[in-house]
Amino acid sequence: MTEASGDFRVARVSPGELLDLRRRVLRGGRPEAVVTNPADEDPLARHFAGFLGARVVVSASFFAVEGPAGPGGRQLRYMATDFDVQGRGLGAAVLAVAEASLAAEGVTTLWANARDSALGFYRRCHWRVVEGSEHLSAETQIPHTVIVKDLGATLG
Ligand SMILES: CC(C)(COP(=O)(O)OP(=O)(O)OC[C@H]1O[C@@H](n2cnc3c(N)ncnc32)[C@H](O)[C@@H]1OP(=O)(O)O)[C@@H](O)C(=O)NCCC(=O)NCCS
Repeated sequence: MTEASGDFRVARVSPGELLDLRRRVLRGGRPEAVVTNPADEDPLARHFAGFLGARVVVSASFFAVEGPAGPGGRQLRYMATDFDVQGRGLGAAVLAVAEASLAAEGVTTLWANARDSALGFYRRCHWRVVEGSEHLSAETQIPHTVIVKDLGATLG
């Protein structure tokens, strides 16, 4: 699927197209950082990119991992917008397209371990915080909080 607005479009992609963004934006560009995920090629995994022209500037991946809302949900991981185009609404646009696409597949709930520094972004996108779920990521040691979104509520 593809959805476009001006020079910007959102499309489902293969995970390999997102690895550069995952590494640079989420892992400090460290060459040794592992940015592949064992579930990347899972048949239920869904990967979305935001493109400005031919350039991938936003990444978002969803995995069939049971979360706080029970079975059947999807976990959002690797949400990232490239540094020079943050704050232009592109991350929110990718999330909106991805959420609609997953809802159309019958997914009703999303969850994520969100970086605390990004909680404002997720709140703007109508995700809600799970109270008392604050923790340090085992992978990055960065403070995170669990967030959820009920897609049924979004679509009314
Ligand atoms: C967090 C991130 C994905 C947001 O993407 P983005 O494309 O910059 O966000 P958008 O421009 O679509 O923002 C949508 C809204 O959220 C707000 N917002 C964005 N980032 C925010 C933040 N860190 N804190 C508070 N509000 C934020 C924007 O101001 C905007 O508000 P508006 O609708 O009132 O204008 C991006 O900044 C990023 O990649 N950050 C570094 C990596 C990271 O932390 N990823 C999340 C891992 S859980």
